Amino acid sequence: EKGGHEYFMLKEIEEQPEALANTLRGHFESGRIILDEQRISDQDLRDVDKVFVVACGSAYHSGLVAKYAIEHWTRLPVEVELASEFRYRDPVLDRDTLVVAVSQSGETADTLEAVRHAREQKARVLAVCNTNGAQIPRESDAVLYTHAGPEIGVASTKAFLAQIAANYLVGLALAQARGTKYPDEVAREFAELEAMPAAVQKVLSTVDQVRDLGRRIADSKAILFLGRHVGFPVALEGALKLKELAYMHAEGFAAGELKHGPIALIEEGLPVVVVMPSPKGRAVLHSKLVSNISEIQARGARTIVIAEEGDETVRPFADELIEVPAVPTLLQPLVSTVPLQVLAAEIARARGYDVDKPRNLAKSVTVE
Ligand code: M6R
Repeated sequence: EKGGHEYFMLKEIEEQPEALANTLRGHFESGRIILDEQRISDQDLRDVDKVFVVACGSAYHSGLVAKYAIEHWTRLPVEVELASEFRYRDPVLDRDTLVVAVSQSGETADTLEAVRHAREQKARVLAVCNTNGAQIPRESDAVLYTHAGPEIGVASTKAFLAQIAANYLVGLALAQARGTKYPDEVAREFAELEAMPAAVQKVLSTVDQVRDLGRRIADSKAILFLGRHVGFPVALEGALKLKELAYMHAEGFAAGELKHGPIALIEEGLPVVVVMPSPKGRAVLHSKLVSNISEIQARGARTIVIAEEGDETVRPFADELIEVPAVPTLLQPLVSTVPLQVLAAEIARARGYDVDKPRNLAKSVTVE
């Protein structure tokens, strides 16, 4: 059932183009974004004045990615919060607050309690969920299903990409209702999303290269991940995958923070994964990251760079270069996360661990 793969996770990584396509299917008709079981009216969506995304683990990272898109498209403030923190700090909620609860399983206790708290405070709750009829969607006002299919590996992969796509649909639905995007702009954003399964398929051609790299760095003590803008949550996700699968110390940083502390960690031979923005789409950030890479390389780090194909400026500073296709900036996480998933899985395998069942972890965490 692993489809000829050594571990489920690799199968699920390869299913990502399909997971994305299935999640998007049916959500744009007659020129409009359509959400699923919509028990939040268009008027309610128009009245939203603040958005919270609450989730745990990878689902939380999908929210961090979505914040960039939703704020840009809707001009609404978006706060992304760990579900386990949210209800213990008296968040400011009312009926014009939209709370998006993201959960693959739909059973995560922390997220469920956050949903209950939000509803008690009269906020509207929309669940983004991968499991039909699970508790979180049952207790929410509306639900948007990710159609990633069952995810067996404890480490989230295809559900994570599908969550980003679904969160983006929520952002576009809000922009459409609020009129912050013209219909043709919404249509264009959706068309760009629809092109992503093919882009992700292309990234899958790097799997062998990344597995080989994983085997070569499997005995490292630690790995750092750097990114900026939407690349920052990707760095967090890459580090989480590595911790949970390879039991290796890993940390994700916003690259701009490097000089505020983390650069002190750099030492000879330390692998540092850098998620580059597009040289065209985000030229300023790109050049700042190039100088970060040269700094850390000068201090002996082994630089592993995920960059847009054809990005020559970065080549001299990359000890290992993994190329991903050029896509619009907000969609980059959908391509740049993939090599990080493969890297973590392969390092874990090379260290002799069970990639699908990492120690101490359960697929759904139903206790707080
Ligand atoms: O089922 P959920 O999406 O609510 O699960 C949330 C986290 O427990 C989950 O993403 C976890 O962090 C994964 N093991 C990460 O790979």
